[in-house]
Amino acid sequence: MKIVAFAGSSSSTSINKQLVVYALTHFKEDQINVLDLRDYALPMFSIDEEKLGKPAQAFNFIQQIQEADAIICSVSEHNRNFTAVFKNLLDWCSRIDMNFLQQKPMFLMSTSPGGYGGGNAMKQAQSVFPTFKADIVDTFSLPRFYENFDQEKNVVIDSIYSKELTEKLDEFKARIHSLFNG
Ligand SMILES: Cc1cc2nc3c(=O)[nH]c(=O)nc-3n(C[C@H](O)[C@H](O)[C@H](O)COP(=O)(O)O)c2cc1C
Repeated sequence: MKIVAFAGSSSSTSINKQLVVYALTHFKEDQINVLDLRDYALPMFSIDEEKLGKPAQAFNFIQQIQEADAIICSVSEHNRNFTAVFKNLLDWCSRIDMNFLQQKPMFLMSTSPGGYGGGNAMKQAQSVFPTFKADIVDTFSLPRFYENFDQEKNVVIDSIYSKELTEKLDEFKARIHSLFNG
């Protein structure tokens, strides 16, 4: 199985990327491709900018999804929405192919330092990703990241959230393996 994974953030210290990397430890036997949104910091979309040509990185992002069997992503929250860099990438990709998430099974997450765990950005993703033909199989949100995640050991330390995430990832893994192994 090939899994493409990314966080909706271009921060070099992204907590959502840390959560993604932790989730990926549950997929040791799979082929993992972790994308970094710092490689996808595109010009701000406008009709005028588009006339100059669509950026190669947006085509590349869609290609990485095409080559994967499943997607794991965690959306970061800025002002109750996606980060600007992620929204911009989505806008460019939607102008290349409205179906760019290509019905790939997706495990969708979010985290933030606050008590809602980036839940607004996740709701936004649940609303808009199906427009791009996402197949969201399950979701997980981790509130109060800095209390519930050990950044040195790179693990969720709260036992309730850890159990919930592990169970959901196990189910996701079983689902995608059964989808692709018949
Ligand atoms: C401009 C800005 C707006 C933010 N707005 C929210 C917010 O609405 N809700 C929230 O939970 N956290 C908010 N935060 C805190 C972010 O969740 C936090 O910076 C987090 O680390 C972002 O995720 P990342 O590390 O994956 O980039 C905001 C941070 C910034 C810089």
